[in-house]
Amino acid sequence: MRKKICAGNWKMYKTPKEAGEFFDSILASLKSNVKGGEIVIFPPALVCESVAKYVNGSSVHWGLQNSYFESKGAFTGENSPDVAKAMGATYVLVGHSERRKIFSESDSLLAKKVAYVQSIGLTPMLCVGEDLSERETGRTNEVILGQLDEGLKSADRKKPFVIAYEPVWAIGTGKVATPEQAEEAHVALRERLGGLGESTRILYGGSVKPENAGELAAKKNIDGFLVGGASLEAKGFLQILSSLQ
Ligand code: PGA
Repeated sequence: MRKKICAGNWKMYKTPKEAGEFFDSILASLKSNVKGGEIVIFPPALVCESVAKYVNGSSVHWGLQNSYFESKGAFTGENSPDVAKAMGATYVLVGHSERRKIFSESDSLLAKKVAYVQSIGLTPMLCVGEDLSERETGRTNEVILGQLDEGLKSADRKKPFVIAYEPVWAIGTGKVATPEQAEEAHVALRERLGGLGESTRILYGGSVKPENAGELAAKKNIDGFLVGGASLEAKGFLQILSSLQ
């Protein structure tokens, strides 16, 4: 049985104070028995320390939205995954479409990140997804399976990793993939993982909201969500979490 994940990608939103307010509500509700799966929050790097203070030692996990593939060195502006681990992180998001598009991160760079993150005992969450023109020209599977193969090229497949399917046309647009479109992509990814397919968690991301989470969560191959906009507000995020029950 794959344990479901409800992950929140805060992007470049929230101050330390706002993060504290969010966790005040979330942690109180979790004590009163809200169930649904493992919670992972990806705060902006400058807010990680505050998040760690709130959630280390609780059932909530956190991780970096992006990291470098070395422990330390002359890499101005980068985040060390080793430092994040020492602070209590357990995940690193790798290859979010905003990193791929805005910051030109290539598959080969992402493969190094996945391998390094695994080597120090953190779990990479590798994002894959097609853009609108790729979908409209029937290239969805070619693109997402290619990103999967490349991203895991140097990975240790015996160590944990998580995949997030995030169609680029659904991210931040309010346009969510239908449950059928998402399920089809998840099945293709799972098949491509061969023997590991059955145990690998594959999340859906792209305009997930309390209103659409239930029908997506009902699909057999959707093991949870990577939520952007709707993860900024505690109440909505908890509703999405409960849909995974
Ligand atoms: P969204 O973002 O939920 O705001 O569409 C998802 C993501 O970027 O991971």
